[in-house]
Amino acid sequence: MKEQLEAIRKSALESVAGTKAASELEALRVKYLGKKGELTGLLKQMGGLSAEMRPIMGQMANEVRASLEDAIETQSAILERRVMEIRLEKEALDVTIPGKKLRIGHKHPMYSVLDEIKDIFIGMGFEILDGPEVELADYNFTKLNTPDDHPAREWSDTFYLTEDSNVLLRTQTSNMQIRAMETRDLPIRVMSPGRVYRKDEVDATHSPMFHQIEGIVVDKGITMGDLKGTLNAVIRKIYGEHTVTRFRPHHFPFTEPSCEMDIQCHKCGGVGCPTCKGEGWIEVLGAGMVHPKVLRTCGIDPEVYSGFAFGMGLERLALGQYKISDMRLIFENDVRFLEQF
Ligand code: PHE
Repeated sequence: MKEQLEAIRKSALESVAGTKAASELEALRVKYLGKKGELTGLLKQMGGLSAEMRPIMGQMANEVRASLEDAIETQSAILERRVMEIRLEKEALDVTIPGKKLRIGHKHPMYSVLDEIKDIFIGMGFEILDGPEVELADYNFTKLNTPDDHPAREWSDTFYLTEDSNVLLRTQTSNMQIRAMETRDLPIRVMSPGRVYRKDEVDATHSPMFHQIEGIVVDKGITMGDLKGTLNAVIRKIYGEHTVTRFRPHHFPFTEPSCEMDIQCHKCGGVGCPTCKGEGWIEVLGAGMVHPKVLRTCGIDPEVYSGFAFGMGLERLALGQYKISDMRLIFENDVRFLEQF
């Protein structure tokens, strides 16, 4: 029995030291110390020993058990440490590696121009309003004195969203004239920038989506003089103090009289060049005195109140400001282009 105990101790200690995983170690514990284990089996045979031998063998068996338990515990700690080391190695963070630089976005040049223009209007006491891009035909056309048979309402010019032509993508920001007059107390000074949509083919100067800035002022005693003074001041703030402007008669259904405003070409000084297409002048906006019919539609008495309104294209302003020759560049959003501004 002594030799058997020695043999068990030897082989058990060797196997324990050679284990590589906690599961192997547990299997060995069962193999030697479990209920049906080798050592346990041996102890069961103690009954057959002589009275002198039994305590000696008993003591030896206990020693073997104790040394085995010790070895298993020690090995378990070693294995645990190894697992931890492997994990630490795997999850090691090298805090000295340089970080990846985040690319921060760039403000779109057109929106920089818009912010500048907003500041100008806010400085003049205007309120900035947002308006719906999906609009009722009533607000985009009818209430703006643009009746059903007006060519601008053609299906070939406007994106309708319903068969009955009642809902559409607004073709102009002038819907905001009506919305401002319907919701604001008089006097009104409102500026409203936003996207508009028309069925245009894309080229260097056209896009089916573009931006307009609408303005409307309604008060007692507003005249064409106020219109010209305000717009001259705004345009000179944008294009420079010495910008030469002119107003030409025009027609819009919702203003009477109506006009367009031109600036003298800043490139050629009015002589004529490719920038102004040989005209010497560049059109910048449409404007006019709010039509009495439109005022009345919004519940405002045209005998007491009058007003002026204007609309300008934002893309054209940005193109002019940054000397960009093709409007498509504004919408393509190529960062290599945007980063130049
Ligand atoms: N809405 C007109 C356009 O799109 C511009 C305009 C606005 C004209 C306000 C007069 C008054 O051309």
